[in-house]
Amino acid sequence: MSEPDIKKGLAGVYADVTAVSKVNPETNSLLYRGYPVQELAGTQSFEAVAYLLWHGELPTGDQLAELRAVERANRAIPADVREFIDAMPTSAHPMDEVRTVVSLLGGFETAGIDNVLDAAGTPAENLDRSVRLFAILPAIVAYGQRRRHGLEIIEPREDLDYAANFLWMTFGEEPAPVVVDAFNRSMILYAEHSFNASTFTARVITSTLSDLYSGVVGAIGALKGPLHGGANEAVLHIFTEIGSAENVVPWLDEVLAAKRKIMGFGHRVYKRGDSRVPTMKLALDALVDHYDRPDVAALYDALESEFVSRKGIYPNLDYPSGPAYSLMGFDTLTFTPLFIAARITGWTAHIMEQQASNALIRPLSAYDGPDERHVEGYEPDAAEVEALERPEEAAG
Ligand SMILES: CC(C)(COP(=O)(O)OP(=O)(O)OC[C@H]1O[C@@H](n2cnc3c(N)ncnc32)[C@H](O)[C@@H]1OP(=O)(O)O)[C@@H](O)C(=O)NCCC(=O)NCCS
Repeated sequence: MSEPDIKKGLAGVYADVTAVSKVNPETNSLLYRGYPVQELAGTQSFEAVAYLLWHGELPTGDQLAELRAVERANRAIPADVREFIDAMPTSAHPMDEVRTVVSLLGGFETAGIDNVLDAAGTPAENLDRSVRLFAILPAIVAYGQRRRHGLEIIEPREDLDYAANFLWMTFGEEPAPVVVDAFNRSMILYAEHSFNASTFTARVITSTLSDLYSGVVGAIGALKGPLHGGANEAVLHIFTEIGSAENVVPWLDEVLAAKRKIMGFGHRVYKRGDSRVPTMKLALDALVDHYDRPDVAALYDALESEFVSRKGIYPNLDYPSGPAYSLMGFDTLTFTPLFIAARITGWTAHIMEQQASNALIRPLSAYDGPDERHVEGYEPDAAEVEALERPEEAAG
């Protein structure tokens, strides 16, 4: 038998088709349902992009108004869910907190359903669940940051759009338009990215005919890792470690000698730069001006140019988004939960796409363990012997 062709990490493997987004490494471009992401980030609200990812088209004025009405009506955390959140230690990692709350919401949703197939839901039910998760996640993330600071919850404001309301619930201040714009852009840029690890996890779970909440919970677990969503958090730790632009060269000498990876650089698919970076960098520049923090821009530029010239590895979206979220006032620990709030749109679009055209995802593995051996004294049953000897064509 010939050796199986193993693609470690599934690198270069096409696992299925999707109509949700297209990543083109040749042109470093990313399209959501055909639209370049930078065009969407420059012109659309996150609500409109969520609609696009779910439905395949940008919404008309009425469709957007309808989505916004449902989103606003589902923003607040219900009292019974709040009790569970308050029971969690404030020292829990916020990714664990959000993952747990989403799981809990699933438990509330499917309460009373005793058939596992019914729990998987109809397309209409799953769209409804997707919109409700999209609506409630900002309150969960915002309250998480406030709880860690010993602050009271801030209820949502019906007169504010998604991005402004998210910032309001976190900081209790009406945000400046430049901050709302930067935040809205970041949400759009993080919304979707084809078969990345967390989305693929969601699709694997969905492929077993499990429910949407289970898919999202699994996706959050995958996103938590620093090789995926955790990188924007790690970028801020790096910035803190370096301190200022003058320290970049000696710092880099040391970490490269130690063969450490520099978070926020490199990408499995884009090898010549990530198309989302210039759009997010524009937003970061606007924030640097707004908060008058040229030191942040200096450190950003120094590390980027030094690392790119030494290694030829370019920044990914986490590189500009980490400092941008920090300037807005988000805690470093809240960055990856912000990614969840954005990516919920892409994950749920993929879950619904998987449900609409399902095949159980179950790859093969090659084996490199011990050769076959036997437990002493074991006598096989006649049926077991027959099964082992059954000819292949009878396997069905
Ligand atoms: C994203 C990432 C996992 C992609 O990995 P990949 O496609 O499997 O590429 P590899 O990790 O095999 O990297 C190829 C080479 O580039 C190096 N490299 C890649 N990213 C690097 C980084 N951020 N810092 C230092 N070296 C890096 C690797 O060490 C490896 O070098 P080698 O061939 O000498 O061993 C990787 O670039 C990384 O770990 N980046 C940092 C984490 C991050 O920012 N993640 C967010 C992604 S959106």
